[in-house]
Amino acid sequence: MDTITTEKINSALKNSADQIIKNLSVFTDKFPKAYSIGNFYPSTDNVDWTTGFWTGQIWLAYEYVSEHEDEFEHGTAEKLKNAGLIQVRSFLDRINNKIEVDHHDMGFLYSPSCVAAYKLTGSEEAKEAAVKAADQLISRYQPVGKFLQAWGGMNEPENYRLIIDCLNNLPLLYWAADETGCDKYRKIADDHITTAVSNVIREDNSTWHTFYFDPETGAPDHGATCQGYRDGSAWARGQAWGVYGLATAYRYTKRSEYIPLFKNVTEYFLTHLPKDLIPYWDLEFTDGDDQPRDSSSASIAACGMLEMSRFLDENDAKYYIDTAKRIIDSIYKSYAVTDFESSNGLVLHSTYSNRSPYNTCNHYGVDECNIWGDYFYMEALTRLSKDWKQYW
Ligand code: GLY
Repeated sequence: MDTITTEKINSALKNSADQIIKNLSVFTDKFPKAYSIGNFYPSTDNVDWTTGFWTGQIWLAYEYVSEHEDEFEHGTAEKLKNAGLIQVRSFLDRINNKIEVDHHDMGFLYSPSCVAAYKLTGSEEAKEAAVKAADQLISRYQPVGKFLQAWGGMNEPENYRLIIDCLNNLPLLYWAADETGCDKYRKIADDHITTAVSNVIREDNSTWHTFYFDPETGAPDHGATCQGYRDGSAWARGQAWGVYGLATAYRYTKRSEYIPLFKNVTEYFLTHLPKDLIPYWDLEFTDGDDQPRDSSSASIAACGMLEMSRFLDENDAKYYIDTAKRIIDSIYKSYAVTDFESSNGLVLHSTYSNRSPYNTCNHYGVDECNIWGDYFYMEALTRLSKDWKQYW
């Protein structure tokens, strides 16, 4: 199988940056919706859990353009920076006014937007917004059970659960602990990781999307799917969040037991991929099944492998880097948008939420671009192009 070369990485980053720059005329005061419709994102206000991934793309493009100024019109890096900072103000306004923030996705919203802005530009507004978002996130902590409750009214038995996706919200808390010197953020993140990791990974190394606890005692109760095909199957993106989430869990806790867990969860993901390495929306499906893909899962898992490779011995690191490169090459070759007349996104064939007879999710964004799929493709390319200072 082919791999992505330096030349292809640069071409993909240039192409992605061009598309992002083109989109700024619409998406500076507004944001792209979570998923495209007919491969075109409509615009939305800053209200969904996904808007940070667009601002994150602006920051990744800003990094690329700043380092390759001769490939772009004069002033393009400045234009991206200004757009990113306009969006930071929107995120500050959102957290100050508590607009759609009563859920666990504060990291997805505030790490690629505001933590990134603070790291890249030193913006104090970005720092203020991200610390406030961390405070909002820890308000979801359930001491009985020791986890961050995902969605829904706090303490309601039908909502007393965590979800695997939340592992990637925790870097916001570790960042806030370092920036403020206040250990409560780290303590809650550590607790959540311990609870999540001991419950969402099944014996065969597939993962539960959601896991419920007894609100009276905090005892683990049962796993269930929301967006996967059925309870016992492995939702592709859930497994991918597990890959990346275990890598960041290791980054921040350095608990050695997370290394074999990362390897096992990643191997389950890799051994359930079709020939071109881009999963169907649930790992139950493979070549020959008439089911939609979720290309975003491929990019998320590749980013997780690249992150974890920083902490592994040379042989293991090489294995995960080579694997991530083959996955990203497949996206580059067959899923990435090359004709801007056909889509305003970066990557085609993702699946947000596919209703099946056995799951509980809404049905939308099936076989479309989605905004985190675009973001993680660009993050993976950026990681492959240099020693990237992560936003997470
Ligand atoms: N975190 C929600 C999703 O991956 O669809």
